This record gives sequence, structure tokens and C-alpha cells, in this order.
Amino acid sequence: VPAVAAAIRSLAVRGAPLIGIAGAYGTALAAVRAAAGRGRSARTRRALMDVDAAAAALAKARPTAVNLPAAVARVLAAVRAAAEAPDADPEALAGAALREAVRIDDEEREACVAIGRFGAALVPDGARFLTHCNTGTLATNWDGTAQAVITAAFDAGRGSTVWVDETRPLLQGARLTAWELQRRGIPMTLVADTAAGSLMARGLVDLVVVGADRIAANGDVANKIGTYQLAVLAKHHGVPFYVAAPVSTLDPGTPTGSDIPIEDRDPREVTTLNGRAVAPAGTPAAGQAFDVTPAALVSAIVTDRGVLRAPFRRSIGAASRSAPSVREPALASRREPA
Ligand code: MRU
Repeated sequence: VPAVAAAIRSLAVRGAPLIGIAGAYGTALAAVRAAAGRGRSARTRRALMDVDAAAAALAKARPTAVNLPAAVARVLAAVRAAAEAPDADPEALAGAALREAVRIDDEEREACVAIGRFGAALVPDGARFLTHCNTGTLATNWDGTAQAVITAAFDAGRGSTVWVDETRPLLQGARLTAWELQRRGIPMTLVADTAAGSLMARGLVDLVVVGADRIAANGDVANKIGTYQLAVLAKHHGVPFYVAAPVSTLDPGTPTGSDIPIEDRDPREVTTLNGRAVAPAGTPAAGQAFDVTPAALVSAIVTDRGVLRAPFRRSIGAASRSAPSVREPALASRREPA
């Protein structure tokens, strides 16, 4: 479990849906370990405490993407429900945990397919996309979110090219999206993050499609740092700005974007590039990993339940009511195992 949490923290596993899936399996792993490793006395109670502690540790590995605490909470709720049975034993708890983790995994895979289908219908013929960060297979367990829209549009013969932001500081666009798109044979051009305005001004971008880490009840969107400025530029140039995310990224419990916890990472991620210093030693830097795009700048949110439009409070409310979820209260118990 600590290794899973460390992998999430270090971005070895990253992208909102994928850290949710990893957190779910990490919680299930704690349940399986608890079933395997204990003596006979009070085994079920001890197993539950172990899973509780693991869930608390995993849920806080990264703060911004809601998928992580939400998926962990679902597995924990399944374990707690199994513990209520009169004949509950640690094996039953482990089975319940694993079944819920697999269910989440399956749902996210199906979500990618549905997002691609709904999103591709919005794409004009010959579309020139601009995207930010990485939202593909390396961020999900299938074709991705924003990237599923792109690949589905190309599969339908409607794509022309993709402008890929390099996505400083950690270069998810250059390292991951560029690799994934080329592997799929999709024409793409890597650009510095600072090129977006000029591309739009020259009429070279038909639509912007990005992912999300958490979408508040009012439609404000937290996503990789740099997303907000793209939305402002898109508005200025009359370019549609679409957010693609599964319903597991909707967070009706968070009223607005200013309530979303924004991850602050090690400032050395900004002062270095691939481990090499790009600023004088000791330069103060800010490691803000995400920003918030106000709902007013979002043309539509493409989810696996359909395309959500303003007023977002209503459309997000309806979509999230139809989504399987257990919210934070399931993680209320933070005690350590005895
Ligand atoms: O810090 P990262 O690489 O996990 O950030 C990822 C993003 O911001 C993605 O756009 C978001 O998680 C959506 S992934 C389908």
C-alpha cells in the first residue's frame, strides 16, 4: 500500500481516472493482505482497521483529482458493508474489495469509449485540435478522455491535426501525448505552451479539448496548470473549449472551483528540466500543479453520460445523480490499526 501511494505521489501512475483505479486496487490490496496475514483472534475487526488505514493513506496521496478519494471511498464502503454480515470474515472483506475495484476499473474503461463517442459528434470536419497535458491511455485504462474524443474523431475521418502543448513543468504533453498520438498514427505537432495564443490568432485551431481532475458543482474545472489560460484565449478567439471527463470526475460536493484543493508540488519541478537546472541555484519557484477554469469559459463538458451544457449546476447535478459514488464521509475514520 505505501508503494501504491508513493507511485501516485511521484506520478509513476497519473491522470485522474487512473489514480482512482490505482487507489481502488491499493485499498483492495490492503484487504487481501489483511485476509492472508492475520492470526485467528478478532480477524475481521483487524482486517477492517487495516483497510481503513490504507484507504486514508491512499486517498490523500494527491489532493486535486476527486477520482482518487471517491474510488477509495467506494472500495472502503464495500468492505464495511461486507463486515456487517453476521458470518463476515477477512476473506469476504477481501472479495468485496476486489469486486468493487474491478467494477470501478470496468466503469472507467466503458467511460472512455462513451466519451469518445459523445465527443466525436461535436467535432467539425477537418478539425485541428489543441490539447494540453496527457489524457490518453497513460492517464486512464483505455483510450482516455480528451484524447478519446480526438482518436474517435480521427477514426470517424473528421480529424486533420493535433497541436500538443508541451505542458511544463513536467512535460506530459511532450513526453506522453506526443508518444501516444504518434503511436496511433495521428498527425500532431508539439508546441511550446506559449504558442497557443498565436496559433489561435492565426486561425489554426478549430477546438480545444482538455481533461479534468475535478469539476465542481457549478462547472468550474480543475485541470493541469496552463488550462485556464487556454480557456481565456479560446474565448477571446471564438474557439470552442471542451472539457472531457468521466462522471467520476464530477464533484457535486464541492460547490465551486475555489473550494477545490490545488496540489502544490516540489518547486524543483519548475527549476529543473529532466533533472538539469534551468534556473540559478536557489531561485524561488512555485510548484502549483493545477489551475481552475471558470465554468463561463467552458463550451461543454463531454462525459460518458452525454454532453453537459450550461447551466452546469443543473446538468452536473443530473449526471452525477446517475453515477455510482460514495463521498468523503466513508473515509471519516482515520484511526491507525491497533
Ligand atoms: O499531474 P497529472 O499528470 O496527473 O495531471 C493530469 C491532468 O491534468 C489530466 O488532464 C487529467 O488528470 C485528466 S486525465 C484523463
